[in-house]
Formats: sequence, C-alpha cells, structure tokens
Amino acid sequence: MSSTLLSILADGEYHSGEALGEALGISRAAVWKQLQKLEALGLAVDSVKGKGYCLKGGFDLLDASALSAAASAFDSVEIFDDIDSTNAYLMQQAQAKPEARMLAVAERQSAGRGRRGRVWQSPYGKNLYFSLSWPFSGGAAALEGLSLAVGVVLAEVIAEQGLAGDKRIALKWPNDVLCEGKKLAGILLEMQGDAAGDCQVVIGIGLNVNMSPGDVEGIDQPWTSLYALSGARQQRTMVLASLLPRLAAMLQDFSREGFAVVRARWQGLDAFAGQHVVLSQGENMIFGTAAGVDERGALLLDIDGSTRSFHGGELSLRLA
Ligand code: BTN
Repeated sequence: MSSTLLSILADGEYHSGEALGEALGISRAAVWKQLQKLEALGLAVDSVKGKGYCLKGGFDLLDASALSAAASAFDSVEIFDDIDSTNAYLMQQAQAKPEARMLAVAERQSAGRGRRGRVWQSPYGKNLYFSLSWPFSGGAAALEGLSLAVGVVLAEVIAEQGLAGDKRIALKWPNDVLCEGKKLAGILLEMQGDAAGDCQVVIGIGLNVNMSPGDVEGIDQPWTSLYALSGARQQRTMVLASLLPRLAAMLQDFSREGFAVVRARWQGLDAFAGQHVVLSQGENMIFGTAAGVDERGALLLDIDGSTRSFHGGELSLRLA
C-alpha cells in the first residue's frame, strides 16, 4: 500500500507526477500505478494537466503514535490499512489471549460486519472502524446493557467536543447513535468464552466521520456523518483519541457495577422517549409507547396500560 504517496497527497494540494516520483524515489510510471491503487480503494484522485494530482479535500491518515498514547488502558494497539473486519480479527485474537485488552483499528474494512447480518460499509480513510476486546467475568448476564453503555460514551464525547456542531445526539435502543433521525454510528458486540463465567467481549464501533454521499453506495438506511453535521472535516485520530480513555473508563466501571452506572444518562439521550414505536422481530410486530430502559438495559414499552420489558437479540425498533 502506498501510504507514503497518501501522506504527500494528504495536504489536498496538487503535486506533479515528477515531484511525487522524486519524493518517493520512483519513476513517474510507478507513481501512476500507485495512484491507480488509491483510486481502487475508492479515493478520488483529481488530475489536472500542468498541475499534477490532488486528493480533493485532503486526507488524514490515522496517526499510530497519537493513538498509542491515548490507548494506555490497552495491552495492544494495532492499526490496519486494510482488513476484512476488526471484530472478526479480535474475536480470533481473543481466543489466544483471553485476558488481554486489545484495540484494533482499520483505515478500511473489506467485510465490515453490521448487526443482523448486514454489511458495514467501510470506505478507506473516511470514518472510524475499530474494535476493543475486553475480558469480563460473570458471562453473558454481566454484559447486559453494555452496548447501550458504549452508545452513551459515544454520544457524550461527540456532544462535549462539539463534533456534530450543536446538533443533539440521540440513542436508539439497543445500540444506534443517531443525529437528526439518521444513523451516525453503529455498535456490534460479539462474545466468546464461557457464557456463564470468564468471557471476552469484542466491541465493534463504526463512526461516520468524514464520509460524504459520493464516497459510498448502497447503505440501506438514512445516515449522516460528523462532517455532514458540523460542516467541518474532523481529524479521525483526534476523535478516536478522545473516545478511547472514556471507553476504557466506562468498561472498568461497567465491570464492577453493570448498566446501572449509565442508566440515567442513557434515558437522557433516548431518541424515542414517550413516542409511539413498533418493535419488530422478524414478522412479529409489537406496538407501544417507548418508556426508557430498566436497570439491566432492557427496553420498556407501555402497552395497553402496562409496562413490558424486552431484551436484546434480533429486535429492531422504529417510530410507529
Ligand atoms: C451496526 O450494524 O449498527 C453495527 C455496526 C458495527 C460496525 C463496526 S466497524 C468496526 C467493527 N468491525 C466490524 O466488522 N464491525 C464493527
């Protein structure tokens, strides 16, 4: 991969083929080949006769040393240029290192995993795609509400740092981060180990940072990005560096106290509180009024005068 060519073009300025060749110590033909590779990754290289080549809008690559400094709570930090899925990778790693706290980040995923078997589109260098592996004792029961807690951290950090301008960030049960009714980030938890004892959870997070409509095709739900919301391109390294210590602190608190530590904060961010909603599981649809979540993170719906709770799994919620 041509990270060096990318780092030159990252300034968004035009560079002649000759200057690029000189800087990289390669021929102009070799420069041209590398430029084609960038295009194959989905990056739009503009070429103008007499001026040279440019990546419109510039580009920021993830900065390994800044990320490592922000990831002191983790035993390992790996940054991939291109990988199938950071979740798949850490699920594999966690088998060999069940006690390790690991972070994997990618510039691009070729088979990003979304919830309910969906694909998570992961165009090169546009967004954040990362996974954390964290050991837990207490099995699946101890993880109840964890994906909601991750959403709380994402929403709080985005709001505190003004990354979405002054727009309100909201959470949709169980684990979508929304803004203006569109999806800004998704969270995918996968677990392995002893379902009743020591286990490892892999928390995958996809946060749309600088993605624009032209960067991607075929996302089958309304989506937005920090760039679209704030009008400013965000430094992905800085965004991730702000999230990592907060996620690690939440995971430590959550291990001790469970979902109760963030319940009130989740309710304050609830996208659908008090609204008529429909909860679906396959063909089965349940209508009710959203009434927040219980102390374990289960969804509460008021249905015909009584409150019922619903636990995670393959459930999906929307406005009725
Ligand atoms: C969703 O469908 O809402 C969950 C999307 C989770 C995507 C992230 S991107 C990093 C990590 N690796 C994956 O393959 N998926 C998660």
